[in-house]
Amino acid sequence: MINVDRGVTVFGKKWAALAVGVLGVTLLTGCGGAADSGGGGAITLGFSQVGAESGWRTANTKSIQESAKSAGIELKFSDAQQKQENQITAIRSFIQQKVKVIAFSPVVQSGWDTVLKEAKAANIPVILTDRSVDSADKTLYKTFLGSDFVVEGKKAGEWLVKESASATGDVNVVELQGSTGSAPANDRKKGFADAIAGTAKIKVVASQTGEFTRAKGKEVMEAFLKSQGKIDVLYAHNDDMALGAIEAIEAAGKKPGTDIKIVSVDAVRDGMQALADGKINYIVECNPLLGPQLMDLVKKVAAGEEVPARIETQETEFDQAKAKEALPQRQY
Ligand code: AHR
Repeated sequence: MINVDRGVTVFGKKWAALAVGVLGVTLLTGCGGAADSGGGGAITLGFSQVGAESGWRTANTKSIQESAKSAGIELKFSDAQQKQENQITAIRSFIQQKVKVIAFSPVVQSGWDTVLKEAKAANIPVILTDRSVDSADKTLYKTFLGSDFVVEGKKAGEWLVKESASATGDVNVVELQGSTGSAPANDRKKGFADAIAGTAKIKVVASQTGEFTRAKGKEVMEAFLKSQGKIDVLYAHNDDMALGAIEAIEAAGKKPGTDIKIVSVDAVRDGMQALADGKINYIVECNPLLGPQLMDLVKKVAAGEEVPARIETQETEFDQAKAKEALPQRQY
């Protein structure tokens, strides 16, 4: 992996680096590769990642980098550090560098039309991966590969409805939302709300962003524990926030999984361990291993082939017994 400009790194089969100009800009050339672009060189993929906020994201980045390498695709990788403006800058830089394909996981859903139109005008196909955008013009990107986040939230809510069947009083829920404006935060909130809508005793008494991180999950849960008289359930939009919240719950002298039931999304190893240990009660899976499917799509769109407009990731759910069974083989 080599830096090519601020925040951008490149993967490829074989490299020659050449220092150019007084500003010390580094120009990199990929030589050969299994995925030929038709012009004799390897396909160049510009990929803009959200950041490194969670265990899920780390596994997703690793999957993309490793899959590009084994597919012989030159990867220019840029970390947006949770900022949309960084993603827009990275996409413009990919356009300038005339990459063959651009892929990105959008930090937020809105505000992409201008830069996507620039990519289209430059004839560079764009693939959305993991997260969607809300652009009305669907011709601005070739396909969207990722999970159905509404379904994930719905599964969490349906679990809670079953779990609360015998409860006689109110079931007070606190919700830790993902990053504000992101597709998984919007959709997981909606799916959960839809699923519990017909069960009046389930009440979301507080809902705030924990930014998909452990640190923020802990901080917000501490605040919830102080401000809320009775908390029966925590719904966390990802495992990392649930893990941070567990620390806050334990510090408050309560037992996570027993005094406060926890349902979260992702099923990363640490989350699965907490589930197996009885500190989380249920996890809805969100699969981060999108690299191999993404590289197949990159090859197809680079070759001008038609691809389906939407490719959905297959996922499952875990209770404590299933987590114990799955843990030894869990890759991330
Ligand atoms: O977009 C996927 C979400 O982003 C994951 O569920 C979360 O952990 C990540 O940060």
